[in-house]
Amino acid sequence: MSALPAPPSQTMSSVVCCIDDLERSALARLDKNTNGYYNAGADAEQTLKENVTAYQRYRLRPRALVDISHVDLTQTVLGHRVSMPIGVAPSAMQKLAHPDGECANARAAEAMGTIYTLSTISTSSIEEVAAAAPKAVKWFQLYVLKNRDMTQRMVERAERAGFSALVLTVDAQMFGKRLADVRNGFKLPPHLSLANFDEEYKKNVKGSVEQSSGISHFVTSQFDPSLCWTDLAWLRSITKLPVLVKGIMTPEDALLAAEHGAGGVIVSNHGGRQLDGCLAAVDALRPVVAALAGRLPVFMDGGVRRGTDVIKALALGAQMVFVGRPMLWGLAYDGQRGAQLALTLLRDELRLAMGLCGEQLTALGREG
Ligand SMILES: Cc1cc2nc3c(=O)[nH]c(=O)nc-3n(C[C@H](O)[C@H](O)[C@H](O)COP(=O)(O)O)c2cc1C
Repeated sequence: MSALPAPPSQTMSSVVCCIDDLERSALARLDKNTNGYYNAGADAEQTLKENVTAYQRYRLRPRALVDISHVDLTQTVLGHRVSMPIGVAPSAMQKLAHPDGECANARAAEAMGTIYTLSTISTSSIEEVAAAAPKAVKWFQLYVLKNRDMTQRMVERAERAGFSALVLTVDAQMFGKRLADVRNGFKLPPHLSLANFDEEYKKNVKGSVEQSSGISHFVTSQFDPSLCWTDLAWLRSITKLPVLVKGIMTPEDALLAAEHGAGGVIVSNHGGRQLDGCLAAVDALRPVVAALAGRLPVFMDGGVRRGTDVIKALALGAQMVFVGRPMLWGLAYDGQRGAQLALTLLRDELRLAMGLCGEQLTALGREG
């Protein structure tokens, strides 16, 4: 199993050889506010935990004597060739992890030949990320704001900058209650800012995320809680890009996404940060895949921490998985190199799992 060279300070006993190692290392490097913001889930964190543990209820059925001398992880996703079915989920404010923030994360995805998704509430702008990783397949995650003009401007900027899909997040019209953030009074430090919002807009926003009232107030005051399915028509009318709906957890909503012209769905519960008590993301996959019956590509994120998690999600019908926190831990560990290490670890573990399974992704059973 390969790993990038270790940072100079790393000793043999602290070699990072799995995502859990990267997590431990990042926890030691990040301050309390950032640790809280990155790692917390909503309320009692049931869903946060279950996103990770749910994979353990699925068992793999390996097939023997299959030629695995070449395990091919490449595939075509929405018309783009990618090197593996593991991409980068959108996560806000990546400069909290490392000064190069989103640009380093996007460069890591570019170097690994996979998809980078940029958050609306990023600390590097759409244009900066596009310039940093011109060859990466880039998707732009969209929060629809009450201010539709501002929303439209962002969509147009993403399209102009070469992003090839929009990821419309539909599970955050209200802001999940994350106790760590409440306790820490989380806010963005003064040297960072939400780079996709122009100064004029931010000046007019009461309780901006950089001010004392923090992100919860920003979301509550800016995101449009009235967003509903018919707004997909509006979004599709202002862009040529495919719109992927992120935050689908039921077959009913998957079918509505298809009816309203989505280009795909991302099964996700926002990494357990929104509705606590929501089912684990991997458990939501099978019914969604069955309902859509091939009408739309199905992607997923939530709790992916090892290659065997990826193969299970693929076997349950996901075309590709995305990772959130592991990339932030990688960034905190060593900027672009750390983010690349996270993707390398997962890719190599997936290749191993596929080889040991005899590459038969469909030959899986469920226990428990
Ligand atoms: C710190 C953090 C910030 C996030 N910010 C966003 C965001 O801006 N937009 C979004 O759609 N999802 C956001 N997410 C959710 C991720 O896209 C993804 O659904 C989740 O992280 C997947 O779970 P994982 O962290 O277990 O991989 C965020 C997640 C984290 C951990």
